[in-house]
Amino acid sequence: MNLENQLIEHVEDSNTSDNPHFQEILNARVSRRSVVRGGIGMTAAMMLGGAGLVGCSDENDDPIITPPTKQPELKAPETINFTPVPHSKKDQVVVPEQYQVEAFLPVGTPLISGLSDWSDTQQRAGESFELRVGDNHDGLWFYGLKDGKLDNTVSDHGLLVINHEYVEVERLHLLGGYTRKIANPVDKIYENQRLSDDVRREVNAHGVGVYEVKRKKDLATFELVKDSKFNRRFTSATEVDFSGPAAGHDLLKTKFDPTGKSTRGINNQCGSGPSPWGTYLTVEENFTGVFARRTDDAAKVPAHTDFALTRYGQKAGSTGFDYLWHTPALEEQIIPDEFSRWDVSSIGATALDDYRNALNTFGWIVEVDPFDPTSRAVKRTALGRFAHENCGYAPVEAGKPVVLYMGDDARGEYVYKFVSKAVWNPADANGGLKAGTKYLDEGTLYVAKFSANGTEAYGLGEWVELTYGINGLNSSNTKYPFSSQADVMVFTRLAADSVGATKMDRPEWVNASPITGEVYLTLTNSNAANRGGKTDPANPRDYDNNGDGKLDGNPNGHVIRWREDNGNHAALKFQWDVYAFGAPFDLAAANLSGLTAENDFSSPDGLVFDPRGVMWIQTDDGAYLKRTNCMMLVALPGQVGDGASQQVGAVTTHIGAKPTTNNLARFLTGPLEAEITGVAFTPDLKTFFVSIQHPGENGNRKDGFNSHWPDSQTNPSSKALPRSALAVITRKDGGVVLG
Ligand code: FEO
Ligand code: CA
Ligand code: CA
Repeated sequence: MNLENQLIEHVEDSNTSDNPHFQEILNARVSRRSVVRGGIGMTAAMMLGGAGLVGCSDENDDPIITPPTKQPELKAPETINFTPVPHSKKDQVVVPEQYQVEAFLPVGTPLISGLSDWSDTQQRAGESFELRVGDNHDGLWFYGLKDGKLDNTVSDHGLLVINHEYVEVERLHLLGGYTRKIANPVDKIYENQRLSDDVRREVNAHGVGVYEVKRKKDLATFELVKDSKFNRRFTSATEVDFSGPAAGHDLLKTKFDPTGKSTRGINNQCGSGPSPWGTYLTVEENFTGVFARRTDDAAKVPAHTDFALTRYGQKAGSTGFDYLWHTPALEEQIIPDEFSRWDVSSIGATALDDYRNALNTFGWIVEVDPFDPTSRAVKRTALGRFAHENCGYAPVEAGKPVVLYMGDDARGEYVYKFVSKAVWNPADANGGLKAGTKYLDEGTLYVAKFSANGTEAYGLGEWVELTYGINGLNSSNTKYPFSSQADVMVFTRLAADSVGATKMDRPEWVNASPITGEVYLTLTNSNAANRGGKTDPANPRDYDNNGDGKLDGNPNGHVIRWREDNGNHAALKFQWDVYAFGAPFDLAAANLSGLTAENDFSSPDGLVFDPRGVMWIQTDDGAYLKRTNCMMLVALPGQVGDGASQQVGAVTTHIGAKPTTNNLARFLTGPLEAEITGVAFTPDLKTFFVSIQHPGENGNRKDGFNSHWPDSQTNPSSKALPRSALAVITRKDGGVVLG
């Protein structure tokens, strides 16, 4: 028996010999049927005969003993009011002395009473992850909950909605890694078949989770309300609807839904944020990583289709990130085309007979209503299709359009904004998906162009409209023959290429200050190959980061910001500067913003404002790890134009006033080999939730892990598997964070 077969037997043994595991499969199957009908509260009651369970957690509460707290004065501190956290290579989340950390909701945590807890040494059924906390926590938001509805004044009780971006196969599966069966000699495309239960576990550990949570008596921590009717998972297998200009278009039609109005799954949820009407806007980022396309497909599709697929990263022969979700044995599928749908090759007679359009059904902004457990998620096609990082709205004003900003996270991609056709009505503040339809299905998508502005302290920019029939977006277009607005939305990148948008150093999170209205965008990094020796005013750096005398592009990244003309977010022109360049404090060639050891950072990624206008910057870094783990900083930013123009290499750029340790300081460092991404807070600003993603990402079960977080937070000698989780940050005296 060869090694692969031994591995397979090992896995299957562990799957069937564990009694709780069998129960999990049963539970998950029951729940699947119930979820389809709408709501897992009923599922839990069915499974346990109703004993001890109620459908609505509002009737099921432990008394909340914390007295009603006065809402904090929503005012930013005038200066940094904590001692900055130093660089750290500890395997712990480190915060300033007056703060404390608790880990919360690690991957695998069961959402209902019938499921056994996570185990490092026992496999949990793939299906059970439909009802467990997903993996790789990312963007998130906290919604106060009262009487089953959104209440933005409630902090003790709420719904935490969390993105689960992708999976760590070395922890999720008992044998770690991408265990594969032996090659199939009949059909080469299915060589190296993955195990069906592993694939199912991965599919189900992606997506979004809605989790009902309550503050505990100690004020320092929260707990999950198991069996809540609100607890639910959207996974890469959950049915989702389309709306907006591309819904029902031929490009979205598949064997699963020949009408093109729905698909299965949301995938690679990265950044996120709330909408002004109380829903959750999540995104699809690296969606091409889970699809495969056969080598001979290039010859089977029209040239412009092959061109478009390739522009979106799915050239013929691509197997994405090698998940190979299309490969498990077809006879092991428990829903139709469960695995075959991840193959986007043209293999049927028409698009209604295969999944050639499946890739087009991913890459959207997705709206979720956390408060309606029976609602389906909606992919909003008017906001374009690309590797969405997040979606941040400008402060809304009655009678004016709703404006959302978005970045396309890949090197050399673009920055977008969407301006709604409908104008904001404050009566929609709790409007759910109906309000989403009103504001997100009709409007105008724009892409940004940045340019220098001589000796002024700020550069200039313009928004170029991406509407079918204008700016050359028509059937005569030489890059791609656009035939409709749906076409422009499905292939947004091609439209943006065509109008000459500015290529950026990997746009990540973008959000507007609720106080100044100015918009901040992290540009996480670029490399030498991407820069190709060329710079431009908004992406001006190309420097040697490692002392080998060769240029490395912009590996430490920067934060750019802009102010719309006259403060009008629907304007077509803007002014910009660079808020700060990331850099090691002692690397003069890179440190254009005068950072110090207390506030230097590299590869900014997460960027969120709290209601006071305090900006929280998080890093996902590979360029500065020798000195420090990834981190979160607090910034009290100034405004566009508070610095000066400056020549950097061959270009003129515009750099904001240099930050000082009075207005930019490191607040948190993460455990080893973890990314810090996503931050949410309770309305009283006493609790901050921070996603700690993939601690120990370089390890594996065979050789071991460098991180054992979250266990290592309280047990420094822990040997537990590292797991993505939230860090819950509170002040030891129970006060307002930064208060
Ligand atoms: Fe998922 Fe762009 O980080
Ligand atoms: Ca170098
Ligand atoms: Ca990110």
